[in-house]
Amino acid sequence: MAQVHDSLNQLLQDMWVDYCDLNPEAKRIYDLLKAEGETLENDHIALRTFKHPKLGIQSLANIFLKMGYQEKQDYHFPEKKLYAKHYEHNDVHQPKIFISELKLEETSDKLQKVISSIINEIPSTALADPKFTLSGRHWKIHYNTYESLAQESEYASWVYAIGFRPNHFTINVNALKKYSDLKNLNAFIQNAGYRMNNSGGLIKGSPNLYLEQSSTMAPEIPVQFTEGTYKIPGCYYEFAKRYRLPNGELYQGFVAASADKIFESTDRLK
Ligand code: NI
Repeated sequence: MAQVHDSLNQLLQDMWVDYCDLNPEAKRIYDLLKAEGETLENDHIALRTFKHPKLGIQSLANIFLKMGYQEKQDYHFPEKKLYAKHYEHNDVHQPKIFISELKLEETSDKLQKVISSIINEIPSTALADPKFTLSGRHWKIHYNTYESLAQESEYASWVYAIGFRPNHFTINVNALKKYSDLKNLNAFIQNAGYRMNNSGGLIKGSPNLYLEQSSTMAPEIPVQFTEGTYKIPGCYYEFAKRYRLPNGELYQGFVAASADKIFESTDRLK
């Protein structure tokens, strides 16, 4: 079991390094809070995929299930045509894993055609690799295709351009001392010059829902398309504060209405 633990810690560390590469802001925010004397814990990591027999939530979850994770709750996002599940480790100090998928059968024929062609490019060996969740893209990308996908689904265009890499990491706000109030933390992040997601208000959720969340807006990063290099949204940093259920346990699930707004943290600048 110790060995499984080591490989999980290694995978999570590799995912953090890959994520910081896509979101250099995250490391700067992490360092800023460290400099304030804070202890940083990771509440959850989010991954995105497409609902497809070869590639759905289950395919991405398998590696975590082998490493001691268990499936917990599922969530529906009808407007964005998304579905998600979250997984928890039996060691409560390990981050939760939140995996979402775009329900392709509800999207246009045009979108389905593009996505099934890129899925066909993924070698089965890549899918079997324990590091698939940071393997990136397995296909060539065209900027005009990216733009047309984004018209229909910002989510689809993000996965098309970025591939399989961590979408976000999340600071466990409960573990902070000076900034354990999400409002204060948000003010600190904004004062440091970072742009935050204001869709549905800065704070999504409430103590009544046992979860409050906020996030930065994903900063743009240069991505190489066949037509040249374009700047597009990469990854964002999330902040989650959890509250106790009537039974005294800290709520470990998610709130669909809040997550729905958090997904917009990778939307292109309007
Ligand atoms: Ni999240």
